[in-house]
Amino acid sequence: MELPLPLRQAVDSALAGVPMAELVATAKALSQRYRNEVRDGRLHLSDARYALAYIATRMPATYAAIHASLTALNEQQPGFAPRSLLDIGAGPGTVMWAAAGVWPTLEAATLVETSPAIRALGERLAATSRLPRIAWRDGDLRSDLTGEQHDLVTLAYVLDELAAKDRDTLVDRLWSQTRHALLIVEPGTTAGWQRILAARAQLIANGAHILAPCPHALACPIAQPDWCHFSARVARSRIHRLAKEAEVPWEDEKFIYLAASRTPVTAHPSRVLSPPESATGRVTLKLCNADGSATRRLLTRREGEVFKQARRVDWGGLF
Ligand SMILES: C[S@@+](CC[C@H](N)C(=O)[O-])C[C@H]1O[C@@H](n2cnc3c(N)ncnc32)[C@H](O)[C@@H]1O
Repeated sequence: MELPLPLRQAVDSALAGVPMAELVATAKALSQRYRNEVRDGRLHLSDARYALAYIATRMPATYAAIHASLTALNEQQPGFAPRSLLDIGAGPGTVMWAAAGVWPTLEAATLVETSPAIRALGERLAATSRLPRIAWRDGDLRSDLTGEQHDLVTLAYVLDELAAKDRDTLVDRLWSQTRHALLIVEPGTTAGWQRILAARAQLIANGAHILAPCPHALACPIAQPDWCHFSARVARSRIHRLAKEAEVPWEDEKFIYLAASRTPVTAHPSRVLSPPESATGRVTLKLCNADGSATRRLLTRREGEVFKQARRVDWGGLF
């Protein structure tokens, strides 16, 4: 997965002329803050240098994770054709770009972001977007959300930046502003999964129908030290590679997400929870099933078409 061409070009143009040594140093500092989940009252993307490091080294990965999550939502509710999007903690507008790619019906996006530095950069990138109506709002998600509803509401890589006490209020607020579907994406760490589980319980209590990744609304069958997460392969551009001082032209972004809807899902295929283990004539899938169980299923060539399907499915897919 890579950023769509107009966005890639806009990112390259925003990064042109930025001294590489500065980009490398800022990207390292930013990565440390994310890895340690620092909550010191200062925004991670507090100034232009951090905003530039974000679009160089994080945006391609969050885009890939968000795109995969929106695609899973779409797969479970194929009739959903959102026209309006509300994205909270929009950063450089990552969700807007991914959602516009998944749904050609999307025509309006409201993007709430409190950091002036990343908002300004996001506005610059969005100048090349196909969406006719994009409204950027300066607002704090802890206090400034209005009651207006939108077809699709999203919150990507934001819960981890909030104090625990602010998360519950925010999830209730997001749901009240959701006309059809809500998507929350978090880093694929055990802590990210725990935050998603808490949001899931809260949304189910509010009457939400879980679309993905879970094929049920029962208790999660995964127990620590295991945890539920997925992976998206991200193509690194030249500048992305240089900013990370990396050799390999790709990286794997681990993520976890939750898609919920006001409309129930009709079919609940199992979800593949880890990379399939393949050998000649056999494949083992770790599955989360509609009855609330998690199982390992061995399929062999003797099972014909089902075996062929199992060979084609990937981590995160439906079986
Ligand atoms: C890791 S970035 C994610 C950006 C984008 N959603 C993405 O996935 O690429 C988190 C964003 O949330 C914003 N944010 C954090 N706390 C916020 C708050 N209280 N109100 C509004 N935005 C906030 C940050 O400024 C930052 O841009």
